Amino acid sequence: MGNGLVVHFSVHGSTARAARTIASLTGADIVGIRPVVPYDADPRHHGALLARVRRERAAGLRPELVDDIDPAGHDPIFLGHPLRDGAPPMPVCGFLEQHDLSGRRIAPFNTHLGGGDGGTYAMIARLAPGATILEGLPIQSDAAAAGAHQQIAAWLRGVLGVFRTVGEMIVRYG
Ligand SMILES: Cc1cc2nc3c(=O)[nH]c(=O)nc-3n(C[C@H](O)[C@H](O)[C@H](O)COP(=O)(O)O)c2cc1C
Repeated sequence: MGNGLVVHFSVHGSTARAARTIASLTGADIVGIRPVVPYDADPRHHGALLARVRRERAAGLRPELVDDIDPAGHDPIFLGHPLRDGAPPMPVCGFLEQHDLSGRRIAPFNTHLGGGDGGTYAMIARLAPGATILEGLPIQSDAAAAGAHQQIAAWLRGVLGVFRTVGEMIVRYG
C-alpha cells in the first residue's frame, strides 16, 4: 500500500515542519488540509484567530476545505494537527468526516505548548470508525519547528516496527 500519506493541518508552521520530517523519514507522500478561507497566521492578529477558532467550535462549524486530498490506497495515514483548546482543529474533524478511513491505520501526531495530545487521539478514533489508531506522538511546538528528527525517528520505529537506524539514515525493511 505504498509508503503511506502524511496529512496535516498547520497554521503557524510547526506541525507542517514535523510533517515534513515524517515524510522524509518514511518516503510517504505529504499533503495539507487546507481551508478555503485560510486562518490568519499573522502573530499580530492572534486575537482574531482565537475568535474565529472559538466561534467555529461553539457553532460546531466545519470550515469548507480545498478538496485535493485522496487518501485512497495509502496506509498508514500519519495525521497531524496543532492542539487547540484541548481538541483537534475543526478542519481536521471535517477531513475525518469526509473520508472513509475504515480498515486503515492512523498514526496521529500533534504539536502543542504544554497540553500534550490533550485527549485528541481518542477524539480522532471516534471520528474515524473502523480505523486502527496507532500510538500517537505529541511534540512540543518549538521542537516541532526545529524538525524533531530524533523524536520522530524513535516514534516511527516504535509504531511501525519496520524501521531501523543506520547511522543518520532510516531504512525501511523489505
Ligand atoms: C486557537 C489556539 C488554541 C490553542 N490551544 C492550545 C491548547 O489548548 N494547549 C496547548 O498546549 N497549546 C495550544 N495552542 C498552541 C498550539 O497548539 C501550538 O502553538 C502549535 O504548535 C501550533 O501549530 P502550528 O504551528 O502547526 O499552527 C493553541 C494555539 C491556538 C492558535
